[in-house]
Amino acid sequence: MKLCSALGVWMFFNVAAAMEPISTSIAVGMAAALTGFLASYPNLIYYFHECCRPEWISLNKTHLEVALNKELFGQHVASRVVLKTVTGYMQNPNPKKPLVLSLHGWTGTGKNLMSQLIAESIYHKGMESGFVHLFTATAHFQHQKHLETYKEQLQMWVKGNVTKCPRSMFIFDEMDKMQPGLIDSIKPYLDYYDNLDGVSYRQAIFIFLSNAGGEKIAEVALNFWNAGQEREEIELKDLEMAITLSVFNNKQSGFWHATLIDKHLVDVYVPFLPLEQKHVVQCGLAEMVARKMKPDKEVVERMAQDLNYFPKEHRLFATQGCKVISSRLDYYI
Ligand SMILES: Nc1ncnc2c1ncn2[C@@H]1O[C@H](COP(=O)(O)OP(=O)(O)OP(=O)(O)O)[C@@H](O)[C@H]1O
Ligand SMILES: [Mg+2]
Repeated sequence: MKLCSALGVWMFFNVAAAMEPISTSIAVGMAAALTGFLASYPNLIYYFHECCRPEWISLNKTHLEVALNKELFGQHVASRVVLKTVTGYMQNPNPKKPLVLSLHGWTGTGKNLMSQLIAESIYHKGMESGFVHLFTATAHFQHQKHLETYKEQLQMWVKGNVTKCPRSMFIFDEMDKMQPGLIDSIKPYLDYYDNLDGVSYRQAIFIFLSNAGGEKIAEVALNFWNAGQEREEIELKDLEMAITLSVFNNKQSGFWHATLIDKHLVDVYVPFLPLEQKHVVQCGLAEMVARKMKPDKEVVERMAQDLNYFPKEHRLFATQGCKVISSRLDYYI
């Protein structure tokens, strides 16, 4: 709280110093007046600088619901599960443990997009928030020989940030490329402890992203299609077992026999279905809107038609999901 107020005055000084031809004495006088003003209205400063307070961090359920409906295509299971879980957790004044979500699925199906939508619905600055932290296995934990150092650094980083703001969010991308064992170093923080060394992790949110289980999810989706069932009939229970088994038993995966799976510390496994051609078209149209262009279905359909799909004989699911859309679109417009 004090930090936020001090920052406000400091910011004011910087602005005042930059203003010409304002004299220093006027600036000092104004700063003194501002300090007095802030003493009378201490909450005002929280509107100017991001603080670990509800003014900056609070769930906007409607925002999340609308974003999931409008921006994430073809992921009815993931959308439903995330909306329910995140809302339930954020509305619980006394959660027994931090929220731990594990997002799984084929490449380009919207896992990073989902983590972005969650961040935007909770943190007013979204992914830009100082309380949202993104780790990528290949960028941050690249060298096998540094495993022990990474473990220590990760523990200190998480602890330090949760101490600063209990409502911190940690996103671990490319979990399947993470060295086995690394994620276990933060396992105590994900557990049901009241506090550890005076720090409580119960308000924190951990999101893991990986492709692990993607093939199994695709298999289930294909089975539904072969049986003549609608994609929308697929439910979480049809996919959950497929994910946990393939994730747990994959020796290459950062999850491999990780105690966080063993000890059931993941609250929910969120499956991302492989995207069909109609979803790719939706992505293309959305991309055109994002570029402030008039959406052109004929152009986008031509582009979608030229992409690769699997299984080869049915051309059912986009091999790269929506991942290449923004670069491919350039060739067609
Ligand atoms: N289901 C979707 N709905 C809307 N846009 C999507 C969807 N899936 C992917 N996209 C778009 O495609 C691009 C890549 O998506 P994203 O990074 O979320 O994929 P990913 O699942 O994390 O893939 P990877 O496993 O390769 O990391 C983004 O621009 C995203 O907006
Ligand atoms: Mg991704």
